[in-house]
Amino acid sequence: MKSTNIFETHSHITKENRADRLGHKGGVLWLTGLSGSGKSTLATELEHRLFHNGYSVYVLDGDNIRHGLSSNLAFSPEDRVENIRRVGEVCGLFADAGFVTIAAFISPYREDRAIARKATGDAFHEIHVNADLETCESRDTKGLYKRARQGEIPDFTGISAPYEEPVNAELQVDTMNRDVEACVNALEDYVEKFLKQ
Ligand code: ADX
Repeated sequence: MKSTNIFETHSHITKENRADRLGHKGGVLWLTGLSGSGKSTLATELEHRLFHNGYSVYVLDGDNIRHGLSSNLAFSPEDRVENIRRVGEVCGLFADAGFVTIAAFISPYREDRAIARKATGDAFHEIHVNADLETCESRDTKGLYKRARQGEIPDFTGISAPYEEPVNAELQVDTMNRDVEACVNALEDYVEKFLKQ
């Protein structure tokens, strides 16, 4: 922390006040997984479904955030740490505001995901969107794996940069063997169980 002489302001609105108004608790569904594992697809499909079921829900997605909040960051280990730190803090604020916040970031380092968890607390749910490298590379929806293999993209997750699989994820969604519909059903069930009032 670099700032000094700062004082916290406390809201008169409690977590319970917000949950009563919105009909559900605030929380973070943190989707982690390789590029091409299906994070963004599941995030936007789940958002669509929850929104129409009356939830106040919002997606924070890696590719989008890197156009704005994290536009000054690339993919070195240090830049990824800072990306996830920023996003972790934003997710904590959204959850505090009562939103169901869906975060879709590779977030390859265990320690960074733990830091993101700390920024939210108990309402943080780590979800491993699980597809192995072979599967993601064969999908190659953005053509990035091919370019990474040709050496055109440095520090590419799974090819020339690490991905540390979760060891304590609250939920695992297997996009290798289940279709989008089945995965979104599992996520929706999870939300109903843990975030519904
Ligand atoms: S993270 O590692 O910092 O969590 P983030 O989720 O924000 O990554 O961004 C990942 C997205 O950036 C990928 O889905 C892909 O489209 C794009 N991308 C561009 N370069 C890289 C790279 N070197 N490694 C991984 N993803 C990359």
